[in-house]
Amino acid sequence: MIDHTGRTINYLRISVTDRCNLRCTYCMPAQGIKLMDHANILTYQEITEFTKIAVSKGVDKVRITGGEPLVRKEITTLIAMLSKIDGIKDLSMTTNGILLEELALPLKNAGLMRVNVSLDTLDKDKYKELTRGGDLGKVIRGLEKASQVGLQPIKINCVVETNRYEPEAMEVTSFANKMGYKIRFIQKMDLVKGTFGIVDGGSGGDCAKCNRLRLTPDGKLKPCLFSDIGIDIKTTGYKEAIEKALEIKPTKGQCNHTGAFYNIGG
Ligand code: 5AD
Ligand code: SF4
Repeated sequence: MIDHTGRTINYLRISVTDRCNLRCTYCMPAQGIKLMDHANILTYQEITEFTKIAVSKGVDKVRITGGEPLVRKEITTLIAMLSKIDGIKDLSMTTNGILLEELALPLKNAGLMRVNVSLDTLDKDKYKELTRGGDLGKVIRGLEKASQVGLQPIKINCVVETNRYEPEAMEVTSFANKMGYKIRFIQKMDLVKGTFGIVDGGSGGDCAKCNRLRLTPDGKLKPCLFSDIGIDIKTTGYKEAIEKALEIKPTKGQCNHTGAFYNIGG
């Protein structure tokens, strides 16, 4: 599908939950986040129906995000439903990897093709501090399992303050090279100011080439991460919401005042 400025839109990012089993300092406050009401969260049936329509209009790349997508109950069921849709060439997930060790195989069997795993440091104490309690060993084992079962190519998302030459990032880079994982560096964004993060070597941040739409856990279709626009797919209608999003997708991202990553899915 083509938007009002002529951009081809073929990428749908679906955030399935705003919950997470970590609390990364740059993503969430330690306490007191307001979580979405379970009653407003889209069912797997609704997500699948919406995705079918998006695919019929030209989406061929789908990514499952969160929050942490693996904490949503029976996420493999959703993957199995989505992988049956004819026309999806790339079905992937962004995860923190904590639950991958147990879920990599069921995910692969359900039809997930590949994963991106967030990893900013290889120091287990720093990891624990940064994620407010995360166990680095679980992530490392999760990555290995994902690789073994064929959820490839595996990509590591590494958040950096400035660039890839920071010592922590260099360590993650050598680890990734050794293990055969690809790596992308994401500049830390100030979520309060909503400033842009340029993904070093990635496709984000270039508005003129932006090919994506985002669906939030509670069914808001967001044409741009850096805008407050969110079209309610339940009240607008699925097809109509997509058409509307194509009409109003901002030419250039501005600022997001309402969201955070854990509910839109960075
Ligand atoms: N700046 C950059 N990236 C962020 N993420 C979460 N919060 C931020 C932030 N403030 C990224 C994580 C992960 C993905 C889910 O979102 O690094 O890779
Ligand atoms: Fe959870 Fe990812 Fe946010 Fe960390 S960055 S708190 S893993 S959603």
